[in-house]
Amino acid sequence: MKNNILYGIDFGTTNSVLSIYDEQKNEIIASISVPSIIYFSAFYNPSSPISYFIGNEAIEQYIAEGMKGRFMKSIKRVLSNASFIDTRIHNLKYTAADLVTLILKDLKTKADEIVGFDCEKVIMGRPVFFDDNNTLKDQLAQKRLLQAAEQTGFTEVRFQFEPIGAAFLYERSITQKEKVLVADLGGGTTDFTFIKLDPAKSNTKDRREDIVATGGIYIGGDSFDAAFMWDRGTPYFGRGLLYESQPGKFLDVPLVFFTNICSWEKMNFYNGLKIKLDLQKYYTYSNKNEKLEKLIILTENNLGYSIFQSIEKTKIALSKAKEVNFKYEKLGIDIDEAISLETYNGIIEKDLSKIDAYLNSFLENNHINPAEIDTLFLTGGTSLVTAIQELFKNKFPHVTIKSEDNFISVANGLAYCGYLFQS
Ligand SMILES: Nc1ncnc2c1ncn2[C@@H]1O[C@H](COP(=O)(O)OP(=O)(O)OP(=O)(O)O)[C@@H](O)[C@H]1O
Ligand SMILES: [Mg+2]
Repeated sequence: MKNNILYGIDFGTTNSVLSIYDEQKNEIIASISVPSIIYFSAFYNPSSPISYFIGNEAIEQYIAEGMKGRFMKSIKRVLSNASFIDTRIHNLKYTAADLVTLILKDLKTKADEIVGFDCEKVIMGRPVFFDDNNTLKDQLAQKRLLQAAEQTGFTEVRFQFEPIGAAFLYERSITQKEKVLVADLGGGTTDFTFIKLDPAKSNTKDRREDIVATGGIYIGGDSFDAAFMWDRGTPYFGRGLLYESQPGKFLDVPLVFFTNICSWEKMNFYNGLKIKLDLQKYYTYSNKNEKLEKLIILTENNLGYSIFQSIEKTKIALSKAKEVNFKYEKLGIDIDEAISLETYNGIIEKDLSKIDAYLNSFLENNHINPAEIDTLFLTGGTSLVTAIQELFKNKFPHVTIKSEDNFISVANGLAYCGYLFQS
């Protein structure tokens, strides 16, 4: 039994998934999914191990503790960040690999319970680029991911590009050869692979020659949420306000206060004492403007998570509706604003253009004529965004668009890549 099992892990920016593949049965026997979130409890007793929670439990505990502890999201993003050495939690230091290990361990423990033994064999997915095409950052990220896999207890580790995983999954459903463009749009990155699929080759060891081209760009659902926060959120917290710098002289409140509430990593910016004092100063200079008061409430009470939850909810609802209300109500912050699909498309327009421009250059640089694409396989949560679907339909009107479960396709496909252990 033991030698027949291998795991495929898609460690994602938003969600992480482990699929268990039984080589003998030639099928996936289970897929386990967990939001890529860690919460370190605020309560700490130096004589006991640090208490932490993963995934949905992390969210529940964070809220139950009144948002007092350390909440970490989008950890995949720090993998390529050389200046992130470690972060101190209570009295312990955690490196990027240590943080990733906590999520991988959660998945491995659950999977080992299903298979009934300690499975040490894994195919880890990785984006085509962890960061914008930078080899050093990319090597660092993969090294950290490997270290995390080893710390988790995997002794045999292979890497595969995430979109190739998705391609191999799709291959299992076709009956004829096809040239397929796979687009995997996740929380952090958008990856493309152009690949020659052939159902007769599904179990072939080495598929390198079939992979015509791979590429990716560092834009995903998180970028859309950040753009939304900037456009629709920050005006409620004082973006555009003037303050009186000298009697009669009015200046803009510095934009840095607002750029730093547009993403998770940046919210920590507000933990420093200097920035808190600065914000108080602008609050006074602006005659105690109520919008800046709300910015103080937002940052002092760690409301970042909950406001981004509302933003994501609005985005997800707009994948099925033409108009949705962006609602947020907490501690006197009260937002209820109708957002039409058209408005939303305008907010993410810059990101959409970047994806479009990247795809054009991807096709051109790899000498791919759109006419030779038989199928476009879409995967990842962000591929459900209406404007993304429109973009692909308009770009490739002749191509059939297919997809399977947007959230587990990659992990399932990775688990099918057992051939990597044979070469
Ligand atoms: N119905 C939906 N409509 C639009 N966006 C959605 C929907 N469901 C999820 N998303 C978005 O999809 C993203 C998560 O997708 P996914 O789980 O594929 O990402 P990931 O694999 O964790 O990220 P990455 O592959 O970039 O590391 C999030 O930004 C989430 O807000
Ligand atoms: Mg993904």
